[in-house]
Amino acid sequence: MTTTVPQTDHRSAIVTGASTGIGEATVRALAADGWRVFAVARRAERLEGLAAETGAVAVPADISEDDDVARLVSAVADAGGADTLVNIAGGARGTDWVAEAKTEDWEWMLRSNVLGTMKITRAFLPMLRANGHGTVLNLTSVAALVSYEGGGGYNAAKAAERAMTRALRLEEAENNVRVIEVLPGLVKTEEFSLRRLGGNAEAAEKVYEGVEEPLTAQDVADIVRYAVTVPHHVNLDEIVVRPVAQAAAHKLIRKGA
Ligand SMILES: NC(=O)c1ccc[n+]([C@@H]2O[C@H](COP(=O)([O-])OP(=O)(O)OC[C@H]3O[C@@H](n4cnc5c(N)ncnc54)[C@H](OP(=O)(O)O)[C@@H]3O)[C@@H](O)[C@H]2O)c1
Repeated sequence: MTTTVPQTDHRSAIVTGASTGIGEATVRALAADGWRVFAVARRAERLEGLAAETGAVAVPADISEDDDVARLVSAVADAGGADTLVNIAGGARGTDWVAEAKTEDWEWMLRSNVLGTMKITRAFLPMLRANGHGTVLNLTSVAALVSYEGGGGYNAAKAAERAMTRALRLEEAENNVRVIEVLPGLVKTEEFSLRRLGGNAEAAEKVYEGVEEPLTAQDVADIVRYAVTVPHHVNLDEIVVRPVAQAAAHKLIRKGA
């Protein structure tokens, strides 16, 4: 296998979840490599700042809203199309046990991680197929592999997103669309735990307490960049990435704990 990195100045990607965290870092990484990038999330002002810094095209959209997705596809088509879709938008809400599950939290997680990813993928598949060398990368989680107390809704959403990703790989191989799944463990990002824990900054900080080196958004973005940049016939089907301190879901080393 060659490790030669192909020219990327003709490559073009849609990156969702681009307003913060892993998605934002991925936009920066791809843009720095010469990709044309369409940065997607709901918060327009954050996308515009990122676009000004990186040269990416900001396209504010809610991936779970059909009208937004249709507008996004038109914007990308009008700008010359894309060969790669990087689905990073998503997240977690709540840590309630199933006995106390909040329906609105589960609905949010299923809508953003599963239905949103399905809607945007469905909408872009004709473009990716027509390109002849399409790529879809879905960012799921190790939460899709192992459940934990208080993780039910997020485990269910990420496991569903993973199941969809595996079906998509089988369905699209004949169209030469490669389908990559990246499954990170603990990544310390600005908003993930804060949003999951209802804005409680102290509780959010405790998630990472004593963990000397959790993954960073940049670590994951570098892996995404590599996976979508290797020659197109190389399909890194499933990439599980954790910090060394998290040897398994049940084994997280916290210094001083
Ligand atoms: N951090 C971790 O430990 C970790 C580990 C494994 C997997 N992951 C997964 O990695 C992804 C990114 O994680 P992160 O830590 O960077 O999370 P984050 O900081 O919470 O970012 C989530 C991103 O998704 C966007 N988003 C959410 N719902 C959306 C919707 N309906 N339409 C469009 N954009 C939407 C948000 O933007 P707007 O609010 O502006 O729309 C934001 O840009 C998520 O799918 C998460 O589940 C995270």
